[in-house]
Amino acid sequence: MNILINGVKGQLGSQLVCIAYSDLFRDYGSINNIIEVSSSQLDITNRKHTIEYIGSLKPDIIINCAAYTNVDQAEEEYEEAFRVNSLGARNLAIAAESVGAKLIHISTDYVFDGKGVIVNGEKTPYREYDVTNPINVYGKTKLLGENYVREFCSKYFIVRTSWLYGEKGNNFVKTILKLAKEKGKLQVVNDQIGNPTNAEDLANHILRLAFTDEYGIYHCTGNGFASWYDFACKIVEYAGIDCIVEPVTSEQFVRKARRPSYSCLDNMMLRNTIGDNMRNWEEALKDFIKIRLKI
Ligand SMILES: NC(=O)c1ccc[n+]([C@@H]2O[C@H](COP(=O)([O-])OP(=O)(O)OC[C@H]3O[C@@H](n4cnc5c(N)ncnc54)[C@H](OP(=O)(O)O)[C@@H]3O)[C@@H](O)[C@H]2O)c1
Repeated sequence: MNILINGVKGQLGSQLVCIAYSDLFRDYGSINNIIEVSSSQLDITNRKHTIEYIGSLKPDIIINCAAYTNVDQAEEEYEEAFRVNSLGARNLAIAAESVGAKLIHISTDYVFDGKGVIVNGEKTPYREYDVTNPINVYGKTKLLGENYVREFCSKYFIVRTSWLYGEKGNNFVKTILKLAKEKGKLQVVNDQIGNPTNAEDLANHILRLAFTDEYGIYHCTGNGFASWYDFACKIVEYAGIDCIVEPVTSEQFVRKARRPSYSCLDNMMLRNTIGDNMRNWEEALKDFIKIRLKI
């Protein structure tokens, strides 16, 4: 098996490379070769080059971690977000199909509008069959990317994740740690609910999926849910930083892009295929801070 991981300089891509080389996967499904691809080697917005590049390497599995991920900036740079998240996904899907490769494409909870699924008057997490309705440019471009993957590639996995943090790159955990140390007092929104997700847990599940033929749409997030405020409180607590965290509303903390107020996902497809071993978000966060960041 030759696995091509695209977007290796990003948060998830770099984590996937580490896990693919780890003991856990060394003999798994007989990995022959891990092909690490960054944006300097392959610009996925270029259709011709993407098809030629994939055609020359002929991977068995392509994992696409490349994306335009700046949610606020996407409101203004909508064409760039569209080129990477929508056309880039399309180009990789066409390229994967042309060499008969499986394509694992990463997507987001922001394909949903945040109204949740109401059961007995209460919001419940979105399942893979629920109707998408993105409310910001990032979510719209990611949804179109999903649609192109489904249209142009027959052996696809679309893996939606959320509120991701890992060792490389910028993320909420690192930002809160930095600001908490610098300022000693923080205000964090308390009216957006989602699933914090440890990139290592996600990478493990993605690689396990890659060796199956269980194609389809997956939700893959940390178990349990939190507001950004809850998330920040636990980061500060686990890191042992003396910092006051105050809850605020999204109206008090206005940003360019609207965010869904409730974007919790249910890992139903995982449970019914390879199994859902995603850890509870608090346990996974504590391990990340203590073991990975060594705080
Ligand atoms: N981060 C989150 O909280 C979150 C939540 C839900 C879903 N997701 C999804 O999870 C996936 C991974 O996210 P991440 O946080 O790991 O992203 P990230 O750290 O921002 O990394 C994205 C990578 O995409 C590459 N890239 C951008 N434009 C490209 C192009 N035209 N051609 C090739 N590569 C290009 C970048 O390369 P350069 O570094 O060279 O620019 C970067 O390495 C994405 O699909 C994202 O939408 C993320």
